[in-house]
Amino acid sequence: MVNDRAIFRREQRLRSWFTRGSDPIQGVVDGLDIGWGGVQSWATAQISLPSRTRHLDFACGYGTFLAELGWRFPDLQLFGLNIDFAGPHGLARPLLAEAGVKVRLVQADARQMPFASGTFDSVSCFLGLQDVEIGFGPKGVKATCLEAVRVLRPQGTLVLLDKYPFPWFEALLDGLPVVVTARKERPLNVRWNRKIAERAVSLYADGWVAQARSTDRRAQEQLRRKVLSRMTAELEGQLTTQGYWVPFGPVRMLLARKVGKG
Ligand SMILES: C[S@@+](CC[C@H](N)C(=O)[O-])C[C@H]1O[C@@H](n2cnc3c(N)ncnc32)[C@H](O)[C@@H]1O
Repeated sequence: MVNDRAIFRREQRLRSWFTRGSDPIQGVVDGLDIGWGGVQSWATAQISLPSRTRHLDFACGYGTFLAELGWRFPDLQLFGLNIDFAGPHGLARPLLAEAGVKVRLVQADARQMPFASGTFDSVSCFLGLQDVEIGFGPKGVKATCLEAVRVLRPQGTLVLLDKYPFPWFEALLDGLPVVVTARKERPLNVRWNRKIAERAVSLYADGWVAQARSTDRRAQEQLRRKVLSRMTAELEGQLTTQGYWVPFGPVRMLLARKVGKG
């Protein structure tokens, strides 16, 4: 297992590449994707994955968690699944090449994964369930969890990281053949001032609308206004009470083991 210092150096290099050409504020906002304020390297340090095993990271987006997994566990056979690798997610391939991490990327809907049952020794998802929820609702999240467990081999490890409170998070696994082995949480090591926060909420509201997948212009505008107003209220609250804004979190992690035959 590679140590934290080596990983932080790689994060810094990848962040510089990822944000090259951005104005300084945009660079700070976009740069969060690499490392997520220390949460990604913390998460990979919490898990142990035997070398040369098959690992799937679904809703992998740009592949930033895949990069961290590849750095921490260089011998893993990594697979990444995302609903698209077009538009911004077209960056996944160049990002992983820049990170020096080899991954087989598969374009598919996580609610119906194109893999046989029991294909993977371990499966993870880093902040992807929240995006599945925006596009496909709570039923979509539940269907995704069912698939994640189906493609995992018995005794395999499931690693889920997201924003949900633990009771809600664990309820997603109700009725599935897994036992939860650990629950952990970690705040982002990020403190943004008003200037950065205001740019971030505007970009996040755009991202939210994109994930909602509506093609109706009016519905998109309404949703954007609603999300922006909610995020702005939260931002103002944090700036008033603590003088800075933490854009997300804490991130919660569930570790589970698959039981039974699959
Ligand atoms: C923003 S990413 C989360 C961060 C990402 N895991 C990383 O490591 O960089 C969430 C991704 O989920 C994807 N997504 C949303 N619904 C999906 C679905 N049903 N199946 C697969 N991917 C989905 C979105 O396209 C988005 O790229």
